[in-house]
Amino acid sequence: MTAAAGPILVFDSGIGGLSVLDAIHSLLPTRRCIYVADDAAFPYGEWEEEALIEHIVGVMDRLVDSYAPRAIVIACNTASTLVLPALRARFTMPIVGTVPAVKPAAGRTRSGVISVLATPGTIARDYTRQLIDQFAADVHVELVASRRLAAMAEKLLQEDEIDAEAVREEILPCFVDTGIGRTDIVVLGCTHYPFLIPHMSAVAPWPVDWLDPAPAIAQRLAALIESDTRIAEGEGFTLFTGGASAPPLLAGMLRARGVPVGGDE
Ligand code: DGL
Repeated sequence: MTAAAGPILVFDSGIGGLSVLDAIHSLLPTRRCIYVADDAAFPYGEWEEEALIEHIVGVMDRLVDSYAPRAIVIACNTASTLVLPALRARFTMPIVGTVPAVKPAAGRTRSGVISVLATPGTIARDYTRQLIDQFAADVHVELVASRRLAAMAEKLLQEDEIDAEAVREEILPCFVDTGIGRTDIVVLGCTHYPFLIPHMSAVAPWPVDWLDPAPAIAQRLAALIESDTRIAEGEGFTLFTGGASAPPLLAGMLRARGVPVGGDE
């Protein structure tokens, strides 16, 4: 007997993970994705670690029971840098995480100065520290915690509003001149941030590469599931754990991505 087909579950605290969903759709356009925004708990960036692990495991238990996904993508750095071991110990399907792209940035920098821009949670994680020790020991890594950028990306996607001066204040600490070199790559360590790239570039003191890990996440997923015939095809849907309905701008974006709000629920 063949096992029933199931969707790919793409999970974030909000709508930032849509940057990862876009990359998944480019590589795997026919696969069915369910996008889950845990907006009831947004932002994850300020949560205590133990409480956040318990919370995400609880939410994921319910989602796996309800939707029997064949693969899970944690499209959130703040969650992935903490909860992947607990999820992998609990579930058997492939689980792909999203973590700051320190390794590729350290390999590519010409100035020897990179910055990691992420939520306070991701910046504080042992996991982030280990990535740097392991892959960027010879590089100057500036760690920059942003309290406001994720919420600003939410506002941009939901209401088409952005405060350019606030963006400037948040990104300014990324721009470092060590005397030997100045920042040439900013690692986007939060999946909300790629939506802000044009706004960040517009106020940046000098041009940098904004490193978005989404294409690499999609490639990793594709490598794991490409030949898996149990991944369902077709349109999926978006679920907000807070039960809120999306404003028209966001609802349109979700429809265009094949994950309309509520969908077939
Ligand atoms: N999108 C999430 C990430 O990649 C963070 C947003 C939040 O603070 O919840 O880290």
